[in-house]
Amino acid sequence: MITYDENQKVFHLSTPATSYVIGIVDGVYLGHVYYGKKLEDLTGVYSLLRTEENPFTPSVNLREKVRFMETVPAEYSCGGTGDYREAGLGVLNAQGQYGCELHYKSYTIRPGKQALCGLPSVRGCESCCDTLEIVLEDPVLGLEAVLSYTAYRDMDAITRSVRIKNAGSDKLVLTRVLSAVLDQDQEDYEVITLHGSWGRERRIQRRKTGYGSVSAESLRGETGHQDQPFLAVMTPGTTQTSGSVYGMNLVYSGNFLAKVQTDQYDKMRAAMGIHPENFRWPLEPGEEFQAPECVLVYSDEGLGKMTRTFHDLYRDHLLPEKWKDRERPVLVNNWEATMMDFTTDVLLEFAQEAAKLGIDMLVMDDGWFGQRDNDDCGLGDWYINEKKLPGGLKRLSEEVNKLGLKFGIWIEPEMISEDSDLYRAHPDWAFQLKGRTPGNWRHQLVLDLTRDEVFEAVYGQIYASLSTGNIAYVKWDMNRPLCDVGNLVLPAGRQGEIAHRYVLAVYRMQQRLMEDFPDILFENCSSGGARFDPGMLSFSPQIWTSDDTDAIERLYIQEGTAICYPLSTMGAHVSVCPNMQTGRTVPFDTRALVAMAGTFGYELDVRHLSEEDRKAVPRQIALFRKVNPVVRTGDYYRIASNRENGYFDCWEVVKKDRSLAYMTFVQTLSQPNMPSRRIRLQGLDPDKMYAVSCDFCGARDFDGRALDERSFADCEENSGGAGIGTEIGTFQGRTLMNAGMLVPRAAGDYRAFLYELREV
Ligand code: GLA
Repeated sequence: MITYDENQKVFHLSTPATSYVIGIVDGVYLGHVYYGKKLEDLTGVYSLLRTEENPFTPSVNLREKVRFMETVPAEYSCGGTGDYREAGLGVLNAQGQYGCELHYKSYTIRPGKQALCGLPSVRGCESCCDTLEIVLEDPVLGLEAVLSYTAYRDMDAITRSVRIKNAGSDKLVLTRVLSAVLDQDQEDYEVITLHGSWGRERRIQRRKTGYGSVSAESLRGETGHQDQPFLAVMTPGTTQTSGSVYGMNLVYSGNFLAKVQTDQYDKMRAAMGIHPENFRWPLEPGEEFQAPECVLVYSDEGLGKMTRTFHDLYRDHLLPEKWKDRERPVLVNNWEATMMDFTTDVLLEFAQEAAKLGIDMLVMDDGWFGQRDNDDCGLGDWYINEKKLPGGLKRLSEEVNKLGLKFGIWIEPEMISEDSDLYRAHPDWAFQLKGRTPGNWRHQLVLDLTRDEVFEAVYGQIYASLSTGNIAYVKWDMNRPLCDVGNLVLPAGRQGEIAHRYVLAVYRMQQRLMEDFPDILFENCSSGGARFDPGMLSFSPQIWTSDDTDAIERLYIQEGTAICYPLSTMGAHVSVCPNMQTGRTVPFDTRALVAMAGTFGYELDVRHLSEEDRKAVPRQIALFRKVNPVVRTGDYYRIASNRENGYFDCWEVVKKDRSLAYMTFVQTLSQPNMPSRRIRLQGLDPDKMYAVSCDFCGARDFDGRALDERSFADCEENSGGAGIGTEIGTFQGRTLMNAGMLVPRAAGDYRAFLYELREV
């Protein structure tokens, strides 16, 4: 709900458990009053703006305006006129002078939410949310800024975005347009950001904020492996279940800045948006610029509730409608098994074996087009390599389909190899700076998709390929960051648009593909998880989480990813051991249980499985099909973290009606003389009774005895009974959550157990 109190001049945006309050200061400036646990009666709340306090409001205490500008809790800040903190908006006037000051003009409140022009955004229908638009103006520049806020009625999420309009008669240049600025008192906050590298994406980093700034950012033209457009700012000591948390996440897939700044007056500004570095956007009279959307989630019950709100919001309102609730296929991808060395015959052998194992889909990865036998060449030539695949995609997809499997392919439309027909014909189609040789990365350059002729030519090729066979799935890859971002087409004053225009072009192409091929399931990917962000999730309901398929490394990666992204979005496969990226050997069932926290599939040579693994695959798939509906649609609870304790990892998914839950426990390191682990479940109905059973996946105790009396394989549930293995007992939800239950010790490292808790 959103209301405006004319007396106090405050806007109140409320969700089921949160309030967000904005005030008009002195009739002119827009100030941030409050964000946090829900308020009811707002009487007196305006005083939180401290307008009576020196050195505040000019008209009240006759202090200079600059002291006001640098201290007022701003709702959206401007650069150059006295607010020395992070600016939301930076503008150059026709004289090239930097400075902007926004004054309140008007507002509207409406049910529902409009999509952003050219950018992905969280959806919202008239019955589920309300939108407030506040129009601010700078009368000197002739500029209008429209701040849009949407408050959801059934979840504690608020989205924000900013649209800038040149309503004057002179040309303006925008040098920064962040999407959100959030000013609060600094209450000794801590912050979580997600950091990484190739193969080590989205590891949780937690630190104190302190004076100065803490930031996460990308200048790579994509989100990147290194940082995420995500911040969780929280009170000290916040846990999964307690503490105040402000989560912020940007729906964008390019250069971004996420920053927390603490100033001399112990105020904190959190800011998020397109990175201002090398961003310059000229705005002619009448033109508009739309900044991406920022999602805010507040939880007064710790990180867990914040996470579940993000999950619900993204599943219900961000993932493509068609896929958001759908079961996804169990696929086998040939990449780790064959790299680019394959033929139709090899792939058909894969498909034959996969069909026997109960796999749903074969995905042919990189290497099927042009002269692509290694990563030196071929990108840009999206026509079939007939030597490898005689009869092309048509024949291959038909043959695969005959075996009862669906068929999917890999593409990387944004790239061009210097050794390609496309590059030989159009060397100027790659990004480049005048007088410089563009820098290669994985022997490839980036196509300038901001140019219509490039966009159309690439799209035409991809369209033709996808139209020739019966293709059910596409993995859209992007294997290098951008640099040398310039072209020889736009005039000097417009080169600063290119990085953002590139992101818009990628969005446009993905949107067009979705519309032209509505039945294809898209999975985004970028050297693993370098473009895992809410922007891409609006086109593909799943994203390849990391090229690191080692199950133990995946514990860290998946924990960090799931802090704001739903489990159903995390591409996760079982691969061979010793693992290609780490050299580690982990039991086959542990690899499967870890992959079941995501989309689940295989990335190994199904033709050469051991007898034992061959028997395990159909059992794992059956288990996946049982567990996945709750993984995909239920509530996720992080119970324990290997990152914190060094010995075990534990998470739980609970069906929305709390009648069924699955808890996965991974013992990462065995210790001598170690105790069983007490696990306190979460999210169950305290009054319900739950039958608890466990598949110990072949683990043994220290005397060599099997922990399993019965595993999933010999359990009746395979044919419809209850439980997934060994019966542990029946407990009340309250007991399981407060007193907990004991998970036995197992001999050896990397053992994983799956518990089922079923209402009786
Ligand atoms: C990237 C992806 C891999 C694979 C290769 C193919 O690294 O993350 O999964 O598709 O490209 O070149």
